[in-house]
Amino acid sequence: MASWITLCPFDELKKEGLFVLELPSTSIAVFWTEGEAFAVENICTHDGGELAGGPVEGTTVICPRHGACFNLKTGAALAPPAYEPIRTYPVRIREGQVEIEL
Ligand code: FES
Repeated sequence: MASWITLCPFDELKKEGLFVLELPSTSIAVFWTEGEAFAVENICTHDGGELAGGPVEGTTVICPRHGACFNLKTGAALAPPAYEPIRTYPVRIREGQVEIEL
């Protein structure tokens, strides 16, 4: 069953623009851009590069390894060399905390 987990204070996400949650099975990156928070799997579908730290333009993140682009809202691959989407997660702000649904 899915459940909401708390990641970090909302003020921290707004200040840093990024928060990374390392789990035993995966890594999740939460981006703050365009006045919204977006949570995605932090693994490029091209060759496993970390998306956290890649440039963000609007709601697009660019993989720092080979330049694939992904839509942070939908996870869609927008530019090669990646063709498969990344996973996205529901994110919400509750009582000053950033939460994602796993
Ligand atoms: S690992 Fe991301 S573009 Fe190659």
